[in-house]
Parts: sequence; structure tokens; C-alpha cells
Amino acid sequence: MAPGTPPRHIACIMDGNGRWAQHRGLERTHGHMAARAAVEAILDGALKEKVEWLTLFAFSTENWSRPEEEVSFLVRFLTQHLIGRETQYMHRRGVRLRVLGSEDPRIPAQVMDKLRETEELTRDNSTLQLSLAFNYGGRQDLCDAARSLVTEEVPAEDITTETFAQHMQMPELPDVDMLLRTGGEHRLSNFLLWHCAYAELVFLDVLWPDFRDSHFRHALELYQQRRRRFGALDPTDAAAAAASVPVKSPALPPGPATLLGLPTAIASHLGTTLWDGLRETARFTVHQLTTDSARAGRSNQPS
Ligand code: IPE
Ligand code: IPE
Ligand code: MG
Repeated sequence: MAPGTPPRHIACIMDGNGRWAQHRGLERTHGHMAARAAVEAILDGALKEKVEWLTLFAFSTENWSRPEEEVSFLVRFLTQHLIGRETQYMHRRGVRLRVLGSEDPRIPAQVMDKLRETEELTRDNSTLQLSLAFNYGGRQDLCDAARSLVTEEVPAEDITTETFAQHMQMPELPDVDMLLRTGGEHRLSNFLLWHCAYAELVFLDVLWPDFRDSHFRHALELYQQRRRRFGALDPTDAAAAAASVPVKSPALPPGPATLLGLPTAIASHLGTTLWDGLRETARFTVHQLTTDSARAGRSNQPS
């Protein structure tokens, strides 16, 4: 990665809404409501930086285990406040929205309809691909891919990383370059497990409702300082390795064993054994001296 290259795909775990509200003595749902400005900040930042893909984690397959009122608020809020208000704004700016996640009977029909309507409205936009991870789980995505391969009777020998990726929920979703998580937690929480294989992980302490352009810039700076190697070497290190000539050990003057006329292998073994013996003796002597002086020190203490 050349320095200054913007990430092609940013994925964001928008975390910290509940704590933001609790710190203010408010209900957790107020934190979700306050997150609108943060969503705008990351969208604007991604557009400005010409990022191609942005994936936002809005609701995980595990979030169903929250209290009923919070789940119900989150599921409805997404469409009524976030997508509803932002749709025209996103459309005007060339954003294509797609939902990443499984359908579920617990998601109200009008919520899914609104999301599908936005997908349809923005389908020809190409400035920024926005995927909204809603009822998404990385393990679920992997299981779905496996199920699809079995259903389509794909022969085992044809299963490669490429064919596997083709059977995931959104086959065109590229690998994540920068995984950003706000809220101070350092974990993936089952987000894009496949796509984050080589993602640069950027964790910020800021709570999601407080996230603004300055935080986005800071995250990008951290990303741009990283050296991405993908298991290979940096081009500069590779060039240095290719140019380097094996270092020859300097020829040593003949030692006493050689002078005695012993064969080289025996002389070298003898030398190593003598050296190891000397080192052990020195170590033992130092140990004895320190133990003795510690004992002497203790006996001098007033009782
Ligand atoms: C993230 O904020 C939003 C969703 C999970 C939808 P949280 O609600 O997890 O906020 P904290 O982590 O409890 O502060
Ligand atoms: C991850 O945040 C899910 C979303 C941001 C949608 P959580 O708050 O649910 O993650 P955990 O429970 O702290 O791992
Ligand atoms: Mg959280």
C-alpha cells in the first residue's frame, strides 16, 4: 500500500450509543437517536475521501437478545429516522444502499419494505456503495455460503476461497481495508469475519453519537501509518533482501586445537564444549557470590 492510499472498503462498528445516553442519565434509546450526526459524518467523510465501499453495522444477529423495548426501537428507528430522513440526501450524493443480513419474521414488513424501496431507488448510483449490516452475523454469512454450496452440489474440489466468497450473502462485497470500531471495545462482535481477514483494525474510544469528521480523519491517519504486508514483505524489504549478498564469516586465525593438528570438525566441537563449560562455571560463580553476599547482608540486619 502506497502511503496516503485511502481504504477502498471501510467497515464500521458503530458502538457506544447506550453508554452515551447512560452517561447523561437518559434511556439507552436516546443514544440511538443521537447517532444520526455520526452517520452523516462517516458518510460525508467516505464521500470526500472517495472511499468505494462503506459497511455500517446497524444491528447484529446477537442484538435480538437485548430487552424487547430496545430491540423494537432499534428495528423501527432504523427505517423511520435514519433511512427515512437520509434517503434523499444519500440519493442526491450518488450513494447506493444495500442491506446485508438475513430476513427475519421479527422484522416488521414495513421496515423491510422501506429498505427494499431505498435499495431500488438508489440502485443505479455508483459514487459510494453503502451496505447496511442489519440483522447481520459473520458466522451466519459463512453458514449460508456453506449451505448454498451444498444445495448447488458444488464438487468439493471446486471449493476455493473465490467460489466460497461467491456464495456469501453479498458476493461483490470486497475485503475490508479498515475496520473501525468506536466505543472503546476491541473486538469484532461477529462482524464480517470473512472479509476482515486482512483488515487493519482501528479502535477509537469515542462513543458513536460523538463521532465527527475529526474522528474520521484520525482513523484514516492511523490506517495510513500501517504497513500492510499480506504475508509477503514490504516492497522495500523485498528489494533489500533481493540485493543482499550472503555475509561470509571472516576467516579465523588457527586456534590451539587446529595447531594440535586435530581435524576441523573435532576442533570446532572441542572449542564449543570448552566455551560452554567456561560459561556455566562463570554463571555458577556469580550465583554463589550473590547468594553469599545476600546471606551476609541478612545476618547484619538488626533483629
Ligand atoms: C451500538 O451501541 C448500537 C447497536 C448495537 C445497535 P450500543 O447500544 O451497543 O451501545 P453500548 O455499547 O451499550 O454503549
Ligand atoms: C456490535 O455492538 C453490534 C453493532 C454495533 C450493531 P454490540 O454492542 O452489540 O457488541 P458487544 O455486545 O459489545 O460485543
Ligand atoms: Mg455496544
